[in-house]
Amino acid sequence: MAYNLLKGKKGIIFGALDEKSMAWQVALKCHEEGAVFTLSNAPIALRMGKINELAAQCGNTQVIGADATSLEDLEQVFSKSMELLGGKIDFVLHSIGMSPNVRKKIPYDDTNYDNFLKTLDISALSFHKVLQTATKLDALNEWASVLGLSYIAAQRVFPGYNDMADAKSLLESIARSFGYQYGFKKKVRVNTISQSPTLTTAGSGVEGFNAFFHYAEKMSPLGNATAEECANYCIALFSDLTRKVTMQNLFHDGGFSFTGVSTQLVEQLIQE
Ligand SMILES: NC(=O)c1ccc[n+]([C@@H]2O[C@H](COP(=O)([O-])OP(=O)(O)OC[C@H]3O[C@@H](n4cnc5c(N)ncnc54)[C@H](O)[C@@H]3O)[C@@H](O)[C@H]2O)c1
Repeated sequence: MAYNLLKGKKGIIFGALDEKSMAWQVALKCHEEGAVFTLSNAPIALRMGKINELAAQCGNTQVIGADATSLEDLEQVFSKSMELLGGKIDFVLHSIGMSPNVRKKIPYDDTNYDNFLKTLDISALSFHKVLQTATKLDALNEWASVLGLSYIAAQRVFPGYNDMADAKSLLESIARSFGYQYGFKKKVRVNTISQSPTLTTAGSGVEGFNAFFHYAEKMSPLGNATAEECANYCIALFSDLTRKVTMQNLFHDGGFSFTGVSTQLVEQLIQE
């Protein structure tokens, strides 16, 4: 059911690779809710992914290739988006994450530092770069909403998550620090959503993903949140109904983050 919550709003959505991607679901909902937007992803993802299918489903929206670690590319994304959409931007989704150490299964305590720096640049600093580019180009309207996607490994140890845990801590910190700056300057909101484990390309690359997906399901009073449910939450945060929410890391995880242990899990462990 659509509510026209984003009618008249203009946005940029980074990170839709295929239909499992969180950003893909967000784009579909933004379209349903009346927004116009551009889509962006890394050049390699444009070649390998299915983003053009998504663009067609969203009223032939434009796709702009960009490596999110490149300031030059990001400037292009913002300038072109304002030109194509006919004005400044009201919402931005940063749904970007990648760790070469996770991909290559290099353990955290024997890390490769070049890879580690890439993880931080792609998965966290790129959020700062998006925000700084938007500031420099004065690309955002007042009360615009910028969202990044995080994971609870920023607060608690999930060993298989490797250096992505450090990247998520930095991502959440950037949301706070930039949210402060952008709030005073331009009344722009900056938040992160800490999402349940979700079966996507990035998600399933993490060692032991299936195990902690099921563990989280058993630990969460409301069950794991799906990508589609995450998209609904993003819509709420892009809308004018959440104007005074900023600098937050918002858990969207069915209650997992505040559950010590669930009866279901205890009963299962007693039987073992
Ligand atoms: N899947 C999960 O369990 C989960 C849980 C919590 C948070 N998240 C976060 O959600 C976000 C989206 O991930 P997803 O699960 O939808 O997986 P996904 O693989 O569909 O999306 C990750 C995206 O990052 C893009 N990307 C990688 N390097 C890039 C670069 N240099 N420049 C631009 N884009 C680049 C990829 O092309 C891809 O589209 C990530 O930040 C991820 O860490 C995922």
